[in-house]
Amino acid sequence: MKGIILAGGSATRLRPASLGVSKQLMPVYDKPLIYYPLTTLLLSGIREILLISTPHDLPQFRRLFSNSNSWGIEISFAEQRNPGGLAEALLIGESFINGGEVSLILGDNLFHGTGLGRQLQDSFVNPGALIAAYHVSDPRAFGVVEFGSDGLAKSLEEKPVIPKSSWAVPGLYFYDETSVDRTKSLQRSPRGELEITDLNRSYLNDSQLRVKTFARGTTWLDMGTPATLLEAAEYVRIVQDRQGLLIGSPEEAAWRSGWIDDQKLLEIASGLKATQYGQLLGKLPEEEK
Ligand code: DAU
Repeated sequence: MKGIILAGGSATRLRPASLGVSKQLMPVYDKPLIYYPLTTLLLSGIREILLISTPHDLPQFRRLFSNSNSWGIEISFAEQRNPGGLAEALLIGESFINGGEVSLILGDNLFHGTGLGRQLQDSFVNPGALIAAYHVSDPRAFGVVEFGSDGLAKSLEEKPVIPKSSWAVPGLYFYDETSVDRTKSLQRSPRGELEITDLNRSYLNDSQLRVKTFARGTTWLDMGTPATLLEAAEYVRIVQDRQGLLIGSPEEAAWRSGWIDDQKLLEIASGLKATQYGQLLGKLPEEEK
């Protein structure tokens, strides 16, 4: 399966901080925000990735990932000229997807939990789509899924004023090869966007939508405001300091997936040895023994 990271948008809720720099390039504690969703894709076993961002921000992403080939993965790049909606990523990525299965992750979502990516990938069944559900105290800012008494998804709504459940839909989606054609037949919403919830509803209407509920110990954060950005940074700092293990390291994910060997990992770590990031990476091969 291939993966798409959508990292465009204008981050209006982060202004003025976002006036000079893309939100997804801002640091979340010790690494760029985009490392977190990228690592989630890599831990799902996905190594062919299309990164979509604005024409203005793409050069910085290219610079950030100029050495990513040495991680044993392949990142290509595409432009989204205007924020026309999350589902538009599938149209922009049509030739990259090339009629296959695809996972889409939002560039501002952080997931953390043992085996989370793999579990999701394993739950995906073709034909169909797989989305996740995460219990939140206030679901009004998200896509919301309602379950029937049979435990299956019953309805999906985008940012409902009166939510039918407490189950929010995180920004990580797995699709069969019909996703591009389905997206082409969607109508734009009143805000002029191709809504991801409409695409998911198209699978639901065909009884081809599966929903995996995340376990309570799982963490999902999205980072769209100064407060949520700071909260995510604190979360990463606390867990990394306590465990001595990194959250959101693509190099570690590539090493754990067997795409780079111990020697390569140590080489990368040595280039970063002045930082906790490099030191924790460098300890991995010995600790794993
Ligand atoms: O975070 C999960 C939620 O993400 C889901 O529960 C919702 O169903 C889904 O619509 C989405 O809601 P948001 O309000 O968070 O979407 P937002 O418009 O903020 O876009 C999410 C990220 O995607 C953001 O970092 C900007 C980027 N983006 C957004 C749009 C609309 C793009 O790169 N291009 C776009 O066209």
